[in-house]
Amino acid sequence: MRLRRSRGLVCYWHAGSFIAHAYPHGAPTALHPAATEVLSAFGDWTDPAEVNKALEHLTAETVDEAVEALREAGLLLAEDTEQASRDDRFARQWGPWDPEASFFHYATQDVPYPDEEAQAQETEQESPALFELFTEYSEADRIFLPRPLSTDLRAPYDQVLHGRRTHRDFTEDPVPLSTLATLLSTTFGPTDFVDCGRCALFRRTSPAGGARQELDAYLAIRNVAGVEPGTYHYNLREHSLELLSEGFTSEEGAHLCADQDWAGGAAFLVVLSAVVDRMLSKYPTPRCYRVVLINAGHLGQTFALTATALGLGPAQTGAFHDTPVADRLGLDNVGRIPLYVLAAGYPHPEPQDAPPPAELDTFRRTTLNG
Ligand SMILES: Cc1cc2nc3c(=O)[nH]c(=O)nc-3n(C[C@H](O)[C@H](O)[C@H](O)COP(=O)(O)O)c2cc1C
Repeated sequence: MRLRRSRGLVCYWHAGSFIAHAYPHGAPTALHPAATEVLSAFGDWTDPAEVNKALEHLTAETVDEAVEALREAGLLLAEDTEQASRDDRFARQWGPWDPEASFFHYATQDVPYPDEEAQAQETEQESPALFELFTEYSEADRIFLPRPLSTDLRAPYDQVLHGRRTHRDFTEDPVPLSTLATLLSTTFGPTDFVDCGRCALFRRTSPAGGARQELDAYLAIRNVAGVEPGTYHYNLREHSLELLSEGFTSEEGAHLCADQDWAGGAAFLVVLSAVVDRMLSKYPTPRCYRVVLINAGHLGQTFALTATALGLGPAQTGAFHDTPVADRLGLDNVGRIPLYVLAAGYPHPEPQDAPPPAELDTFRRTTLNG
Protein backbone atom coordinates (compact mmCIF):
# COMPACT_ATOMS: atom_id res chain seq x y z
CA MET A 1 0.00 0.00 0.00
CA ARG A 2 1.39 3.39 -0.99
CA LEU A 3 1.71 6.15 1.59
CA ARG A 4 2.05 9.93 1.49
CA ARG A 5 2.91 12.62 3.99
CA SER A 6 -0.04 14.52 5.43
CA ARG A 7 -0.41 17.86 3.59
CA GLY A 8 -1.16 19.69 6.83
CA LEU A 9 2.03 19.21 8.80
CA VAL A 10 4.18 21.38 11.05
CA CYS A 11 7.29 20.27 12.94
CA TYR A 12 8.83 22.20 15.82
CA TRP A 13 10.70 21.85 19.06
CA HIS A 14 8.75 22.21 22.28
CA ALA A 15 10.14 21.80 25.81
CA GLY A 16 13.18 20.02 24.39
CA SER A 17 11.22 17.51 22.29
CA PHE A 18 10.94 17.42 18.54
CA ILE A 19 7.23 17.49 17.70
CA ALA A 20 5.48 16.68 14.44
CA HIS A 21 1.84 17.74 14.25
CA ALA A 22 -0.38 16.60 11.41
CA TYR A 23 -3.64 18.52 11.14
CA PRO A 24 -6.61 18.96 10.91
CA HIS A 25 -7.00 15.49 12.48
CA GLY A 26 -3.68 14.44 14.01
CA ALA A 27 -2.29 15.21 17.43
CA PRO A 28 1.14 16.62 18.31
CA THR A 29 3.58 13.69 18.47
CA ALA A 30 7.11 13.65 19.89
CA LEU A 31 9.55 12.03 17.44
CA HIS A 32 13.25 11.49 17.03
CA PRO A 33 14.33 14.28 14.65
CA ALA A 34 15.78 11.58 12.35
CA ALA A 35 12.19 10.56 11.55
CA THR A 36 11.98 13.62 9.29
CA GLU A 37 14.23 11.80 6.85
CA VAL A 38 11.60 9.09 6.50
CA LEU A 39 8.82 11.70 6.30
CA SER A 40 10.72 13.53 3.55
CA ALA A 41 10.78 10.40 1.45
CA PHE A 42 6.94 10.35 1.29
CA GLY A 43 6.35 13.64 -0.53
CA ASP A 44 4.04 11.86 -2.96
CA TRP A 45 2.39 8.43 -3.03
CA THR A 46 5.28 6.04 -2.41
CA ASP A 47 5.68 2.35 -1.64
CA PRO A 48 7.46 1.90 1.73
CA ALA A 49 9.66 -0.74 0.07
CA GLU A 50 11.07 1.96 -2.25
CA VAL A 51 11.80 4.16 0.73
CA ASN A 52 13.57 1.27 2.38
CA LYS A 53 15.79 0.97 -0.69
CA ALA A 54 16.42 4.70 -0.95
CA LEU A 55 17.36 5.08 2.72
CA GLU A 56 20.03 2.42 2.51
CA HIS A 57 22.04 3.87 5.40
CA LEU A 58 19.13 2.88 7.72
CA THR A 59 18.21 -0.73 8.53
CA ALA A 60 14.94 -2.04 7.06
CA GLU A 61 13.68 -2.58 10.60
CA THR A 62 14.32 1.04 11.56
CA VAL A 63 12.48 2.33 8.51
CA ASP A 64 9.54 -0.07 9.03
CA GLU A 65 9.20 0.94 12.67
CA ALA A 66 9.38 4.62 11.76
CA VAL A 67 6.74 4.19 9.02
CA GLU A 68 4.42 2.42 11.44
CA ALA A 69 4.84 5.14 14.10
CA LEU A 70 4.33 7.90 11.52
CA ARG A 71 1.14 6.24 10.25
CA GLU A 72 -0.23 5.92 13.78
CA ALA A 73 0.42 9.63 14.38
CA GLY A 74 -1.46 10.51 11.18
CA LEU A 75 1.74 11.90 9.66
CA LEU A 76 1.68 9.32 6.86
CA LEU A 77 -1.61 8.53 5.13
CA ALA A 78 -2.55 5.47 3.09
CA GLU A 79 -3.71 5.85 -0.52
CA ASP A 80 -7.45 5.53 -1.33
CA THR A 81 -8.60 5.99 2.25
CA GLU A 82 -11.09 8.42 3.75
CA GLN A 83 -8.16 10.03 5.60
CA ALA A 84 -6.35 10.68 2.32
CA SER A 85 -9.34 12.26 0.57
CA ARG A 86 -10.01 14.40 3.66
CA ASP A 87 -6.40 15.54 3.49
CA ASP A 88 -6.76 16.48 -0.21
CA ARG A 89 -9.93 18.40 0.61
CA PHE A 90 -8.09 20.24 3.38
CA ALA A 91 -5.21 21.19 1.01
CA ARG A 92 -7.68 22.51 -1.60
CA GLN A 93 -9.71 24.51 0.93
CA TRP A 94 -6.89 26.17 2.84
CA GLY A 95 -4.49 26.56 -0.11
CA PRO A 96 -2.08 29.45 0.49
CA TRP A 97 -3.32 29.98 4.06
CA ASP A 98 -1.42 26.81 4.95
CA PRO A 99 0.58 26.37 7.12
CA GLU A 100 0.43 29.62 9.13
CA ALA A 101 -3.32 30.17 9.45
CA SER A 102 -4.47 26.56 9.25
CA PHE A 103 -1.94 25.35 11.80
CA PHE A 104 -2.99 27.98 14.33
CA HIS A 105 -6.66 27.19 13.72
CA TYR A 106 -6.39 23.41 14.05
CA ALA A 107 -3.67 23.33 16.68
CA THR A 108 -5.95 25.36 18.95
CA GLN A 109 -9.22 23.53 18.31
CA ASP A 110 -10.94 20.93 20.52
CA VAL A 111 -8.80 21.86 23.51
CA PRO A 112 -9.77 20.66 27.00
CA TYR A 113 -11.47 23.25 29.21
CA PRO A 114 -10.88 23.12 32.98
CA ASP A 115 -14.08 22.55 34.93
CA GLU A 116 -15.40 25.53 36.84
CA GLU A 117 -14.78 24.05 40.31
CA ALA A 118 -11.12 23.33 39.56
CA GLN A 119 -10.75 26.78 38.12
CA ALA A 120 -12.32 28.38 41.22
CA GLN A 121 -9.91 26.46 43.50
CA GLU A 122 -7.00 27.47 41.33
CA THR A 123 -8.08 31.09 41.50
CA GLU A 124 -8.22 30.95 45.31
CA GLN A 125 -4.72 29.50 45.53
CA GLU A 126 -3.28 31.92 43.07
CA SER A 127 -0.99 34.68 44.16
CA PRO A 128 -1.98 38.29 43.48
CA ALA A 129 -2.16 39.36 39.88
CA LEU A 130 1.07 39.01 37.97
CA PHE A 131 0.08 41.49 35.34
CA GLU A 132 -0.34 45.24 35.33
CA LEU A 133 -3.90 46.31 34.82
CA PHE A 134 -2.97 49.60 33.17
CA THR A 135 -0.30 50.68 30.74
CA GLU A 136 1.21 53.99 31.77
CA TYR A 137 4.06 56.15 30.56
CA SER A 138 4.56 58.03 33.79
CA GLU A 139 7.54 60.08 32.52
CA ALA A 140 5.81 61.20 29.33
CA ASP A 141 4.50 64.70 28.67
CA ARG A 142 0.72 64.49 28.69
CA ILE A 143 -2.43 66.22 27.58
CA PHE A 144 -5.29 65.82 30.02
CA LEU A 145 -8.39 65.33 27.93
CA PRO A 146 -11.51 67.42 28.46
CA ARG A 147 -14.38 66.38 30.66
CA PRO A 148 -17.34 66.23 30.77
CA LEU A 149 -17.72 64.14 27.69
CA SER A 150 -19.60 65.60 24.76
CA THR A 151 -23.30 64.76 24.65
CA ASP A 152 -23.21 64.12 20.89
CA LEU A 153 -23.66 60.42 21.52
CA ARG A 154 -27.42 60.72 21.77
CA ALA A 155 -27.92 59.99 18.07
CA PRO A 156 -30.65 57.34 17.59
CA TYR A 157 -29.20 53.84 17.67
CA ASP A 158 -30.73 52.74 14.36
CA GLN A 159 -29.30 55.80 12.61
CA VAL A 160 -25.87 55.09 14.01
CA LEU A 161 -25.99 51.39 13.18
CA HIS A 162 -27.19 51.90 9.62
CA GLY A 163 -25.16 55.06 9.14
CA ARG A 164 -21.84 53.38 9.93
CA ARG A 165 -19.73 52.88 6.84
CA THR A 166 -16.02 52.49 6.28
CA HIS A 167 -14.76 55.88 5.04
CA ARG A 168 -11.70 56.35 2.88
CA ASP A 169 -12.10 60.03 1.99
CA PHE A 170 -11.81 62.69 4.63
CA THR A 171 -11.93 66.49 4.78
CA GLU A 172 -9.09 68.47 6.30
CA ASP A 173 -11.37 69.81 9.04
CA PRO A 174 -9.59 69.24 12.35
CA VAL A 175 -11.31 66.95 14.83
CA PRO A 176 -12.08 68.85 18.08
CA LEU A 177 -10.24 67.53 21.10
CA SER A 178 -13.55 67.04 22.94
CA THR A 179 -14.74 64.74 20.13
CA LEU A 180 -11.57 62.66 20.29
CA ALA A 181 -11.83 62.58 24.09
CA THR A 182 -15.40 61.26 23.92
CA LEU A 183 -14.48 58.64 21.34
CA LEU A 184 -11.51 57.36 23.35
CA SER A 185 -13.26 57.36 26.68
CA THR A 186 -16.40 55.69 25.32
CA THR A 187 -14.50 53.00 23.44
CA PHE A 188 -11.54 52.31 25.71
CA GLY A 189 -12.25 53.85 29.11
CA PRO A 190 -13.42 51.84 32.12
CA THR A 191 -17.17 51.65 32.69
CA ASP A 192 -16.80 49.98 36.10
CA PHE A 193 -14.51 47.82 38.20
CA VAL A 194 -15.19 44.27 39.39
CA ASP A 195 -13.56 41.94 41.89
CA CYS A 196 -12.53 38.78 40.03
CA GLY A 197 -11.44 37.01 43.24
CA ARG A 198 -7.81 37.49 42.41
CA CYS A 199 -7.70 41.20 41.71
CA ALA A 200 -9.69 44.15 40.42
CA LEU A 201 -10.55 44.21 36.74
CA PHE A 202 -12.27 46.86 34.73
CA ARG A 203 -14.90 46.55 32.08
CA ARG A 204 -15.52 48.54 28.93
CA THR A 205 -18.46 49.23 26.66
CA SER A 206 -17.30 46.21 24.60
CA PRO A 207 -17.27 42.64 25.89
CA ALA A 208 -13.76 41.25 26.40
CA GLY A 209 -13.05 37.52 26.70
CA GLY A 210 -11.20 37.17 30.01
CA ALA A 211 -11.96 40.78 31.02
CA ARG A 212 -8.20 41.36 31.15
CA GLN A 213 -8.48 44.37 28.82
CA GLU A 214 -5.22 43.37 27.23
CA LEU A 215 -5.74 45.81 24.36
CA ASP A 216 -4.23 49.27 24.69
CA ALA A 217 -4.97 52.21 22.40
CA TYR A 218 -2.04 54.06 20.79
CA LEU A 219 -2.65 57.06 18.58
CA ALA A 220 -0.92 58.61 15.61
CA ILE A 221 -2.45 62.09 15.47
CA ARG A 222 -2.25 64.31 12.40
CA ASN A 223 -5.23 66.65 12.52
CA VAL A 224 -6.82 67.13 15.95
CA ALA A 225 -7.39 70.70 17.17
CA GLY A 226 -5.03 71.64 19.98
CA VAL A 227 -2.86 68.53 19.66
CA GLU A 228 0.55 68.63 17.98
CA PRO A 229 0.97 65.88 15.40
CA GLY A 230 2.71 62.95 17.00
CA THR A 231 2.24 59.51 18.49
CA TYR A 232 0.52 59.10 21.83
CA HIS A 233 -0.72 56.48 24.26
CA TYR A 234 -4.26 56.85 25.60
CA ASN A 235 -3.94 56.61 29.36
CA LEU A 236 -7.45 55.44 30.13
CA ARG A 237 -7.15 55.65 33.92
CA GLU A 238 -6.15 59.27 33.72
CA HIS A 239 -8.06 60.12 30.53
CA SER A 240 -4.95 61.66 29.02
CA LEU A 241 -2.75 61.41 25.96
CA GLU A 242 0.83 60.52 26.77
CA LEU A 243 3.27 61.84 24.17
CA LEU A 244 5.52 59.14 22.76
CA SER A 245 7.11 60.92 19.81
CA GLU A 246 6.64 64.18 17.96
CA GLY A 247 5.46 64.62 14.37
CA PHE A 248 3.15 62.59 12.18
CA THR A 249 2.44 63.14 8.49
CA SER A 250 -0.08 61.97 5.97
CA GLU A 251 2.67 60.15 4.04
CA GLU A 252 3.70 58.27 7.14
CA GLY A 253 0.11 57.30 7.98
CA ALA A 254 -0.42 55.93 4.47
CA HIS A 255 2.88 54.07 4.52
CA LEU A 256 2.34 52.47 7.94
CA CYS A 257 -1.06 51.21 6.79
CA ALA A 258 0.53 49.07 4.07
CA ASP A 259 0.77 52.04 1.69
CA GLN A 260 -2.96 52.68 1.57
CA ASP A 261 -3.38 56.36 0.62
CA TRP A 262 -6.73 56.78 2.37
CA ALA A 263 -5.11 56.16 5.76
CA GLY A 264 -2.96 59.25 5.22
CA GLY A 265 -6.10 61.39 4.98
CA ALA A 266 -7.48 60.30 8.37
CA ALA A 267 -7.23 62.86 11.16
CA PHE A 268 -5.84 60.16 13.46
CA LEU A 269 -5.10 56.46 13.60
CA VAL A 270 -5.67 54.29 16.65
CA VAL A 271 -3.49 51.20 16.92
CA LEU A 272 -4.82 48.42 19.14
CA SER A 273 -1.87 46.73 20.74
CA ALA A 274 -2.10 43.64 22.96
CA VAL A 275 -0.16 43.24 26.18
CA VAL A 276 0.55 39.54 25.87
CA ASP A 277 1.05 38.63 29.53
CA ARG A 278 -2.06 40.51 30.66
CA MET A 279 -4.09 37.83 28.89
CA LEU A 280 -1.70 34.92 29.11
CA SER A 281 -1.29 35.12 32.91
CA LYS A 282 -4.93 34.14 33.23
CA TYR A 283 -5.29 31.92 30.16
CA PRO A 284 -2.13 29.97 29.37
CA THR A 285 -3.86 28.00 26.60
CA PRO A 286 -2.73 29.21 23.14
CA ARG A 287 -6.35 29.15 21.98
CA CYS A 288 -6.80 32.41 23.87
CA TYR A 289 -4.80 34.22 21.21
CA ARG A 290 -8.01 33.77 19.17
CA VAL A 291 -9.87 35.58 21.94
CA VAL A 292 -7.41 38.49 21.81
CA LEU A 293 -8.14 38.90 18.08
CA ILE A 294 -11.89 38.64 18.66
CA ASN A 295 -11.63 41.22 21.45
CA ALA A 296 -9.90 43.57 19.01
CA GLY A 297 -12.83 43.15 16.62
CA HIS A 298 -15.30 44.09 19.35
CA LEU A 299 -13.37 47.25 20.19
CA GLY A 300 -13.16 48.05 16.49
CA GLN A 301 -16.93 47.89 16.15
CA THR A 302 -17.54 50.05 19.21
CA PHE A 303 -14.99 52.54 17.85
CA ALA A 304 -16.76 52.61 14.48
CA LEU A 305 -20.24 53.09 15.98
CA THR A 306 -19.09 55.73 18.44
CA ALA A 307 -17.19 57.62 15.75
CA THR A 308 -20.33 57.51 13.58
CA ALA A 309 -22.47 58.86 16.42
CA LEU A 310 -19.97 61.71 16.80
CA GLY A 311 -20.26 62.62 13.12
CA LEU A 312 -16.86 61.15 12.21
CA GLY A 313 -16.15 58.69 9.43
CA PRO A 314 -14.48 55.56 10.82
CA ALA A 315 -12.20 53.14 9.01
CA GLN A 316 -10.10 50.16 9.98
CA THR A 317 -7.40 48.01 8.49
CA GLY A 318 -5.82 44.67 9.20
CA ALA A 319 -3.17 45.52 6.62
CA PHE A 320 -0.28 47.45 8.13
CA HIS A 321 3.49 47.19 8.33
CA ASP A 322 3.80 45.55 11.73
CA THR A 323 7.43 46.26 12.57
CA PRO A 324 7.45 49.94 11.48
CA VAL A 325 4.15 50.50 13.35
CA ALA A 326 5.59 48.91 16.49
CA ASP A 327 8.82 50.90 16.14
CA ARG A 328 6.97 54.19 15.64
CA LEU A 329 4.95 53.60 18.81
CA GLY A 330 7.87 52.30 20.86
CA LEU A 331 6.30 48.84 21.16
CA ASP A 332 8.75 45.96 21.47
CA ASN A 333 6.53 43.72 19.30
CA VAL A 334 7.25 40.91 21.77
CA GLY A 335 5.25 41.60 24.92
CA ARG A 336 3.28 44.41 23.26
CA ILE A 337 2.09 43.60 19.79
CA PRO A 338 0.12 45.81 17.36
CA LEU A 339 -2.92 43.95 16.03
CA TYR A 340 -5.41 46.28 14.40
CA VAL A 341 -5.42 49.84 13.08
CA LEU A 342 -8.53 52.01 13.35
CA ALA A 343 -8.84 55.47 11.81
CA ALA A 344 -11.24 58.40 11.66
CA GLY A 345 -11.72 61.90 10.33
CA TYR A 346 -14.58 63.99 9.00
CA PRO A 347 -16.12 62.21 6.01
CA HIS A 348 -15.68 63.94 2.65
CA PRO A 349 -19.09 65.05 1.26
CA GLU A 350 -18.13 63.72 -2.19
CA PRO A 351 -16.08 60.61 -1.56
CA GLN A 352 -13.99 59.36 -4.47
CA ASP A 353 -13.05 56.10 -2.87
CA ALA A 354 -16.47 54.59 -2.02
CA PRO A 355 -17.73 51.49 -3.86
CA PRO A 356 -20.69 52.15 -6.22
CA PRO A 357 -23.99 50.41 -5.42
CA ALA A 358 -24.54 46.97 -6.99
CA GLU A 359 -26.86 47.14 -10.06
CA LEU A 360 -28.69 44.45 -12.00
CA ASP A 361 -25.62 44.06 -14.19
CA THR A 362 -23.47 43.47 -11.13
CA PHE A 363 -25.66 40.56 -10.06
CA ARG A 364 -25.39 39.11 -13.56
CA ARG A 365 -21.65 38.78 -12.87
CA THR A 366 -22.24 37.29 -9.41
CA THR A 367 -22.61 33.67 -8.32
CA LEU A 368 -25.35 33.93 -5.71
CA ASN A 369 -25.29 30.26 -4.72
CA GLY A 370 -23.73 26.85 -5.55
C1 LIG B 1 -10.79 43.55 10.10
C2 LIG B 1 -11.01 44.51 8.95
C3 LIG B 1 -9.96 44.82 8.12
C4 LIG B 1 -10.13 45.71 7.07
N1 LIG B 1 -9.06 46.04 6.32
C5 LIG B 1 -9.21 46.97 5.34
C6 LIG B 1 -8.10 47.41 4.57
O1 LIG B 1 -6.97 46.97 4.77
N2 LIG B 1 -8.30 48.35 3.62
C7 LIG B 1 -9.55 48.88 3.37
O2 LIG B 1 -9.65 49.74 2.49
N3 LIG B 1 -10.63 48.47 4.08
C8 LIG B 1 -10.49 47.54 5.04
N4 LIG B 1 -11.57 47.14 5.79
C9 LIG B 1 -12.88 47.71 5.48
C10 LIG B 1 -13.73 46.74 4.68
O3 LIG B 1 -13.30 46.72 3.33
C11 LIG B 1 -15.19 47.16 4.81
O4 LIG B 1 -15.59 46.97 6.15
C12 LIG B 1 -16.11 46.37 3.88
O5 LIG B 1 -15.84 46.70 2.55
C13 LIG B 1 -17.57 46.59 4.20
O6 LIG B 1 -17.89 47.97 4.11
P1 LIG B 1 -18.51 48.76 5.34
O7 LIG B 1 -17.50 48.74 6.45
O8 LIG B 1 -18.75 50.15 4.83
O9 LIG B 1 -19.75 48.05 5.75
C14 LIG B 1 -11.42 46.27 6.83
C15 LIG B 1 -12.47 45.94 7.67
C16 LIG B 1 -12.28 45.09 8.73
C17 LIG B 1 -13.43 44.78 9.66
